[in-house]
Amino acid sequence: MSLQNMTKTELSAFRDEAKKQYEDFKALGLKLDMSRGKPCKEQLDLSLPMADILNSSSSYIDADGIDVRNYGFLTGISEAKQLFADLLGVDPSMVIVGGNSSLTLMYDSVARAMQFGVYGSEKPWCKYDKVKFLCPVPGYDRHFGVTETFGVEMINIPMSPTGPDMDMIEKLVSEDETIKGIWCVPMYSNPDGYTYSDETVKRFAALKPAAKDFRIFWDNAYCVHHLKDDHDSLLNIFDEAKKCGNEDMIFEFASTSKITFPGAGVAVLVASENNVQQITKLLGMQNISYDKVNQLRHVRYFKNADGVRAYMEKHKAILAPKFDMVIDILTKQLGGLDILTWNVPKGGYFISVNTLNGCAKEVARLCKEGGVVLTGAGATYPYKKDPDDKNIRLSPSYPSLDDLAKAMELFCICVKLASAEKLLAE
Ligand SMILES: Cc1ncc(COP(=O)(O)O)c(C=O)c1O
Repeated sequence: MSLQNMTKTELSAFRDEAKKQYEDFKALGLKLDMSRGKPCKEQLDLSLPMADILNSSSSYIDADGIDVRNYGFLTGISEAKQLFADLLGVDPSMVIVGGNSSLTLMYDSVARAMQFGVYGSEKPWCKYDKVKFLCPVPGYDRHFGVTETFGVEMINIPMSPTGPDMDMIEKLVSEDETIKGIWCVPMYSNPDGYTYSDETVKRFAALKPAAKDFRIFWDNAYCVHHLKDDHDSLLNIFDEAKKCGNEDMIFEFASTSKITFPGAGVAVLVASENNVQQITKLLGMQNISYDKVNQLRHVRYFKNADGVRAYMEKHKAILAPKFDMVIDILTKQLGGLDILTWNVPKGGYFISVNTLNGCAKEVARLCKEGGVVLTGAGATYPYKKDPDDKNIRLSPSYPSLDDLAKAMELFCICVKLASAEKLLAE
């Protein structure tokens, strides 16, 4: 029965029952962490053979005859460029292979733009009184952290299952020259798990921003991270942008953090020839070589893009049961109560849920005191301010199935308790 239709007496009884269950759970002394989308140990162990793949002096020589242990080849070895180019459907000349983290490449891209501008900038972004970024919400907390660090003003853009509100984006970017960028996670978005529709990608590719140096930060972190056989697919934004003469407007990012090792993977920045030239010149002052040994290890291990895709099936086999279990518990415990909505993603690392307005912080607090740490409520919004205090990002990947089941039981009890308290107070 919907909690909205209960009498005060029924609601009180519901609340008391939830409270009793909560106290029982608290007594178990759980200590579980569901706060970040980290791969679990079994997933990390999948890539162990990669560590031994370069086992003699000659194995460090790549296909071009380069000894990858030495300095040089700043933008990456050509075999690695080819692998990522094939995965992302771009030309290898557009790929800069970096270190282990795409977030670092994103941070550096914003830092470079602030300090020096991007290709086509009249002046560095820091020379403007104000620089603004559009932020589809809910979104990835670390994106918002990067722009907040540089004092960039962030504007919320509502998300929908087809992507962010394009009417709003088109209007805002066409009117305001100080809007210099937008954060996008176009496939299996963090946290909603939405994949942008073809129309959304086409509209992004055809944007006509007032700022000639506007950039779309296209963070394709989950490009091969499917959870279902009937998975989503994403239109290639560079193909579309080419048709509109807009290739310079896009910075695409990806990494193997959730393919091999988050702490020791390989990340890439993909951009037009003009952008690559401008970036490489500045990168050359910062670095002489990224970790080419790791690049070669990855290439030798996967061989090609199909090798990566086939390998992702192993991750799917570990992750899909965890996601299925979360959805199952939510449905059984909360279905029909009208106090929580949730997405059922076909890929990525998160399940995004919405409580009744004003309940997310309380649910996260109750969970923490009950022994389960969630991603902080509000974290999915710029400045950690969820205007409705309703969104929570669940990360099912790291805990074992047993722990996950306990954590989700507690989560559902907390949602019941917080919702009943809220409705009783109204
Ligand atoms: C959307 C998104 N982008 C980037 C990252 C981090 O990527 P990397 O490990 O390559 O820095 C994450 C990690 O959760 C993410 O969710």
